[in-house]
Amino acid sequence: MRLAVCPGSFDPVTYGHLDIIERATGLFDHVVVAIAVNPAKTPLFSTEERLEMLRESIAGIPNVSATFFEGLLVEFAAAQGATAIVKGLRATTDFEYEFQMALMNKRLRPEMETVFLMARNEFSYLSSSVVKDLVRFNGNTAGLVPPGVAERMRPRLLTGQTDPRGGPAR
Ligand code: PNS
Repeated sequence: MRLAVCPGSFDPVTYGHLDIIERATGLFDHVVVAIAVNPAKTPLFSTEERLEMLRESIAGIPNVSATFFEGLLVEFAAAQGATAIVKGLRATTDFEYEFQMALMNKRLRPEMETVFLMARNEFSYLSSSVVKDLVRFNGNTAGLVPPGVAERMRPRLLTGQTDPRGGPAR
């Protein structure tokens, strides 16, 4: 059984992530989507909230599960029995960071492979951060994040400032 781990912050999950996860399930028998708990970061959503949104979003995909991990990704992946880490690459701007991570992970555990899938064209500009900005200013997130995710984002991010001239919220 070939198992892969698909790691990330997923704060929150986007259709870009879901595309990579779904394509990874075609390459491996099982994919474990894993939220990294990073005490140095202040995410918008708690680990539990992010996990709930992920689980809702992957409910229709048969050979995938979701969880979270603390500490080193390669150690988590090895403990799961994974042979590979799957990551999405959007643009060349992702490359340097991902290259560094992949080489560090290779140094830590040479037997663990990192597999990169190129993001689809329509998701190559998409990130959780960009969607957060969009929601802050009441932009349309259709086709970018699942509806349930958008619903959870709105009350947390909406500033009420929708005046394109940038006036204060009334
Ligand atoms: O969605 P992101 O923020 O690009 O995901 C980055 C993530 C979670 C994959 C990365 O930060 C990670 O692997 N964190 C766990 C700690 C670790 O193993 N770091 C690499 C070796 S120092």
